[in-house]
Amino acid sequence: MKDPKQVLIFDTTLRDGEQSPGISLNTAEKLEIAHQLARLGVDVIEAGFPITSPGDSEAVRSIAQQVEGPIIAGLARTHKGDIDAAWESVRFAARPRIHTFISTSDIHIIHQLQTTREDVLGQARAAVVHARGLCEDVEFSPMDATRADIEFTAEVCAVAVEEGATTINIPDTVGYTTPDEYEAYLARLYELVPQLRDVVVSVHCHNDLGLAVANSVAGATAGARQIECAINGLGERAGNAALEEVVMLLKTRGDAYGGLFTNCNTEEIAKTSRLVSRLTGYAVQPNKAVVGRNAFAHESGIHQDGVLKERTTYEIMDARSIGLDANSLVLGKHSGRHALADALSQLGYSVEGQALNQAFKRFKEIADRKKQVTAMDLEALVTDEIRHDEAGFALESFKVHTGSGESPVATVSVKLPDGNSAAGEATGDGTFDALFQALSNACGLAPALREFRVDAVTAGEDALGETSVVIDLNGVTGAGQAVANDVVEAAARAYIRALSNAVSRAELPITSDLKGTP
Ligand code: KIV
Ligand code: ZN
Repeated sequence: MKDPKQVLIFDTTLRDGEQSPGISLNTAEKLEIAHQLARLGVDVIEAGFPITSPGDSEAVRSIAQQVEGPIIAGLARTHKGDIDAAWESVRFAARPRIHTFISTSDIHIIHQLQTTREDVLGQARAAVVHARGLCEDVEFSPMDATRADIEFTAEVCAVAVEEGATTINIPDTVGYTTPDEYEAYLARLYELVPQLRDVVVSVHCHNDLGLAVANSVAGATAGARQIECAINGLGERAGNAALEEVVMLLKTRGDAYGGLFTNCNTEEIAKTSRLVSRLTGYAVQPNKAVVGRNAFAHESGIHQDGVLKERTTYEIMDARSIGLDANSLVLGKHSGRHALADALSQLGYSVEGQALNQAFKRFKEIADRKKQVTAMDLEALVTDEIRHDEAGFALESFKVHTGSGESPVATVSVKLPDGNSAAGEATGDGTFDALFQALSNACGLAPALREFRVDAVTAGEDALGETSVVIDLNGVTGAGQAVANDVVEAAARAYIRALSNAVSRAELPITSDLKGTP
C-alpha cells in the first residue's frame, strides 16, 4: 500500500520532451536516458508515442524489454490503431501502461477535432474499454482540460473511471492556468467525480507562463498523487514542469505541502540532467533552478564568506544531495582498462568487449592531453560513444587553414552511407563556416545552419570541447552533438551527425553518385 503522502513521478522526457523542436533521439540514446531515469527512481517512464513512427515504436519496445523498475507507458490517441500500437510496444514491460487522451475543451473539439462533445465522450469510453481489454494499467487524459468546461470534463473523467482507467491526468496543455485556479479546478473535479478518490489523479503542466512547477504542486495540494514532468523542463513550446525542480521542491519544502514526498534518488539528478542535455543538444541555462551551472555558485564576497563559515547561511540545498560531486578526479594517464571499466561502472555504465576497447582508446587520447580525467569527462566520452551507432555519414579527416587577414579554407573527407569516401573543400567567413561548407559539399547537401554552440565539459584550459549543431535540410531539422579534445574536431563531428540525422529523418537515399565536390 502506497503512503498517501507519496507523489508518483511520471517522467515524460522521452515523449513530451522529445517533442521539443530540434530534438531527435535514436533508440540507443533513448535507452540510455531510460536506464538513467530508472536509476533516478522515477515511478513511470512515458517512453514515446508508438503510432507516430516505426522508430518511436521500436524505442518504446526496447525500453519496455530492457529497463527494469519503473512502469513503462506508451501514449495513444483514442483511435484503436494508436492503442494497439502502444500496447504492441509496452507489453514487454514488467509493468506496462497505456496512456490515452482526447481533448475536452471546445476550442479543440470545434477547431481541431471538428467534432462534438458527444463524440468525444464516446471516443473516450471506447478507448478506455479497448485499452483495458489489453492492459490493466490505463491512464486517461482529457487534453486542454484547464480551458474546458469543467462539467463536461468531469463527465468524461467519470466515464473513463467507470470503464476502468486507473489514472486520470488533468493536463494544463497550453500552460494557461494559475496555481490557485488549478487547485480550485481539481477540488471541484473531486466534488463532481467522487470516484476520482479511487484512482490516481495526475497533473501535467506546461510552462508557457513559467508556472508549470507551481501549478503541479498546487495540483498535489488538491489531492493529485502523480506529477508529470521532464528532465530540464523539456517539452512542447516552453516545456513541461522540470522534474528536478518538482523533486527538490518536495525534498526541501515538503513541510510546506503537508509532508508530500517522492521516492526519487536525488543524488542522480545532476547526472541525469547532464545526460539529457548532452543527448538532446538542449543546453541548461546557467541560472536554472537546481541544475544550472550557477545553482550552487556564490559570487558575492559576503555570500562566499557566509558559506565558508556555515553552508546553510546561503544554501537551502546541499549540492551533494543532487550528486554534484562528480567533478572529482577518477583516473590518471597511467590507468588501465580495468580501472576504466571500474570507474565507468561506478558511474552506472556497464561497458564491455568491443565498446570497452573503443572507450579505452578514446580515454587514452584524452588522458594524453589532459592531466586529470574526471567523472564528468568520462560521462561525456561514454555519451559520445552511444551516438556512434547512428548509420549515416562519418568524418574521416579534416584540415582547416586560416590566419589573420586570410579567408579560412577547409578540406574534408567523409565516409558516405554506401561505404564510399567523398572529399569536400570550401572557403568561408570563419573557420567553422568553411568547415561546415566543406562537409556539406562532400555530402552533396546544402542545409541551412540554425544553431551552433560550443561549450567545455569542465573548467580549465585543457577541458574537452563539446559542440551542438542544428541544421535545416529542406524543412527537416537535424541535430548533432559531439565531444573531442579539439573543439574544431568536435564541431565537424557534430555537423556530420546533424547531416546524418536530417537525412535519416527525411529518408533521403545518399550514395556516392550524389556526392558533391570530388
Ligand atoms: O499537454 C498535454 O495535454 C499532453 C497530453 C498528451 C497529456 O501532453
Ligand atoms: Zn504535454
